[in-house]
Amino acid sequence: MPKTQINNSCQIKRPGDPCAIVLFGASGDLTSKKLMPALYSLFTNNYLPSSFYIIGCARTVHTDDSFRDRVRASLENISLNKEGKIDEFLGRIYYIQIKYDDPASYADLAERIKSLDKEKSIPENRLFYLAVPPNLYNNISNMLGSSGLSVEGVEKNNWTRIVVEKPFGRDLETAMILDASLKQSFKEDQIYRIDHYLAKETVQNILFFRFANTIFEPLWNSRYIEYVDILAAEKIGIEKRAGYYEQAGIIRDMFQNHMMQLLSLIAMEPPSKFNSEVIRDEKAKLFNSLRPFDLKDKKNELVLAQYNEGVIDGEKVCSYRNEEGVNPSSLIPTYASFKMYVDNQRWEGVPFFLRAGKRLDQKMTRIIVQFKKLKHSIFNNVICGDLNANRLTFYIQPVEKITLSFETKNPGSSFCAGTQKMEFVPDGKGQHLEAYEKVILDCLNGEQLLFLRQDAEELCWSYFTGFLKECATCFDSQKNLKFYEAGTAFYTVN
Ligand code: NDP
Ligand code: BG6
Repeated sequence: MPKTQINNSCQIKRPGDPCAIVLFGASGDLTSKKLMPALYSLFTNNYLPSSFYIIGCARTVHTDDSFRDRVRASLENISLNKEGKIDEFLGRIYYIQIKYDDPASYADLAERIKSLDKEKSIPENRLFYLAVPPNLYNNISNMLGSSGLSVEGVEKNNWTRIVVEKPFGRDLETAMILDASLKQSFKEDQIYRIDHYLAKETVQNILFFRFANTIFEPLWNSRYIEYVDILAAEKIGIEKRAGYYEQAGIIRDMFQNHMMQLLSLIAMEPPSKFNSEVIRDEKAKLFNSLRPFDLKDKKNELVLAQYNEGVIDGEKVCSYRNEEGVNPSSLIPTYASFKMYVDNQRWEGVPFFLRAGKRLDQKMTRIIVQFKKLKHSIFNNVICGDLNANRLTFYIQPVEKITLSFETKNPGSSFCAGTQKMEFVPDGKGQHLEAYEKVILDCLNGEQLLFLRQDAEELCWSYFTGFLKECATCFDSQKNLKFYEAGTAFYTVN
């Protein structure tokens, strides 16, 4: 009988290399809402290197102490304050006021890093995190290059990495320009392009589900699968991000990145091994197989829509056009849905429905893999009711679970079929990391699996660039943009 093996590699890998973590945009929303809480949580769980420090950089005036107060407030808000630990954590945080395009600021930064490295005996390992609006990425990376801060001390095995937040460009052309600019100072393996969806537990489980079991992969094709439906519904609106959202809209904000990554994990071919380059090769191949989107083809069922005012959780919420900072006649879509195809043997003719939107009735991200109905049922002459086809659903958030539905006979003397669900719900045991904790940790460990590679980035942009260009003009008459009441359940399959 096979023995259960205990696999020690399941332990979270604590990065060994002492390092400096430099956050640009340290006065911003992402830093206080996601990065500091993630770093703090990693710290309290002993997942950060034994020796590290954090430097916050931004234009806002702060001293080390006033910045620490700000960080303390952001941590207290989310009740992560473990006794005694917060002061120890804050003690490792420093602040330096910079102008993003001023060489003198980077000289100051280099000086500060040098002296803190010396004081704490930290070798030259540096993580630069760009938590700033994307139009600053070029400037910062060029300045890091010209000040010598992007260089890696190869002889001593020291590393320098740069983390770039999405959106990575706004179309194919700008993504390529941005990449060329980053590459003036950093090599591809130093660049970590984040898509935090890849760090979600159930998203990672898709790979295990598909490739660690024998029973699903033989069915994973057009012979057995009717369609795939990927949904990312949100209750929140655009919050205080009008400046960004008015330029982005739902396609750039959710589809070019998160939705495409979910699609790639469901649809890619089996990689030969679990290795970040091999897996990222397969994703790129998949993106290369996408059938170009034809806007004129009504069969693509394209819907672009924007929220009107409505009620969510009993509270009245305003329309998109009334959000602070939004153009009152904006034509930016906050919801999109359409059908796409993968032109390869495995997925011939199988539609992939993608839909995502803000201000819907619930937060729900999930992927349905809908199997085909039985071609011939032996029960046709005896059962009451229809037999439902099997369905596999990956629930990503807010609950994480995987369900498989199948048909059984209902108890009783007559032949009635009933649909049962088999559920896998993570038991909460083991070491759970939030998405931003996971990406920071992987970055410190030099693990690129959860980060996007430039070739795949460009393929995703090329899929959407034509689409976005045409849509910029196809709304002239407004007739193509639909409006929905906030709080609507805008999706039918669940
Ligand atoms: P913010 O708008 O809060 O900006 C971060 C900081 O950048 C600000 O505190 C400000 O600092 C500086 N800044 C802002 N605008 C300008 C400007 N025009 N010129 C110079 N400096 C400016 O952004 P977020 O923190 O929300 O986001 C940072 C990055 O992370 C963005 O790329 C965003 O797309 C991405 N992101 C954010 C998420 C979030 O939840 N917030 C989620 C996923 C990705 P100062 O004025 O002090 O220099
Ligand atoms: C971000 C988008 O990348 O993802 C936001 O910019 C969106 O608009 C968010 O709300 C959704 O992330 P999550 O993890 O809450 O599904």
